[in-house]
Amino acid sequence: MEDKKMLFSAIQPSGILTIGNYLGALRNFKKLQDDYNGVFALADLHTLTVKQDPAILRKNIYELTALYLACGIDPEKSILFAQSHVSAHTELAWVLNTICYPGELSRMTQFKDKSLKHEDNINMGLMDYPVLMAADILLYQTELVPIGADQKQHLELARDLAIRFNNRYGETFKVPEGYMSKSAARVKSLAEPERKMSKSDANLNAFISMDDDPATVLRKFKRAVTDSDDKIIYSPEDKPGISNLLTIYCAFTGKSIEQAQEEFAGKGYGDFKVAVGEVVTSAIEPIRQEKNRLLADKTYLDQVLSNGAERAERLAYRTLNKVYKKVGLVLRKRG
Ligand code: TRP
Repeated sequence: MEDKKMLFSAIQPSGILTIGNYLGALRNFKKLQDDYNGVFALADLHTLTVKQDPAILRKNIYELTALYLACGIDPEKSILFAQSHVSAHTELAWVLNTICYPGELSRMTQFKDKSLKHEDNINMGLMDYPVLMAADILLYQTELVPIGADQKQHLELARDLAIRFNNRYGETFKVPEGYMSKSAARVKSLAEPERKMSKSDANLNAFISMDDDPATVLRKFKRAVTDSDDKIIYSPEDKPGISNLLTIYCAFTGKSIEQAQEEFAGKGYGDFKVAVGEVVTSAIEPIRQEKNRLLADKTYLDQVLSNGAERAERLAYRTLNKVYKKVGLVLRKRG
């Protein structure tokens, strides 16, 4: 790969992705892959930490592969692969487990939240999830990790484990930095604009999925909860609904809040909601179409993943072998 810094990111193929995921992650990948050596993974093994229907998981893996490509990931320039295809991930996770303490994992906010949500399935994988994520990142000598706010603690652990290993065994891992996109954290639910937009919301009108067709997008924005004073002004405390729509409008158009307020001064909520629907549709509809086109060609998607895994593997085993040597294992002699 070129002499650029390594960037690693992964998304779980667990179904719906929202415009929040798009703004926070997917949209930026296309640009980032020019400035970095981009390694983009499908965190398929991570999805197993909560119950999955095997047939649906298999479908979701292809869906996410197609979505990555449709969003502009270039499989020649970047490495696009499935985590389960490169066994170095689970191998490094095992070694990192031996320097990670149970207390560090049981304290994680996401583990506590998910334990409450999946009371009937609190498994070891759910607790160990951040260690596998640390392995994902550290295998590629990653310098930059684009993450959402919910992954901040996990990235912190990856850094701690890298430093701990380096101190104990000598310089081995780069210590990665997180990169948080600003617009992402701020996209709120269309039904309860005090809360974050979430794909797991039981109310399907609360979020815009990357799979929503233009009519659905428009309908959801028309139904978005707002106040009744009919003034398009940004004020998250008093007008959370309208402020959220302004945030979305600006994130998709690149306009500032002031510009948007001016543009819609004197106009009503109805017009504004239609305008928001239109700018969102014009960004996500081409992606939806391209994704569906790609999904029709599984052979191509398999090829992309297979090629990605081969390239990822070479980098990953370089680090894993170093780790095995440092801890005192004897490397297998081939041939
Ligand atoms: N845990 C991340 C999420 O659910 C996905 C993920 C797995 C990841 N491994 C990663 C993200 C490594 C960044 C880096 O969002």
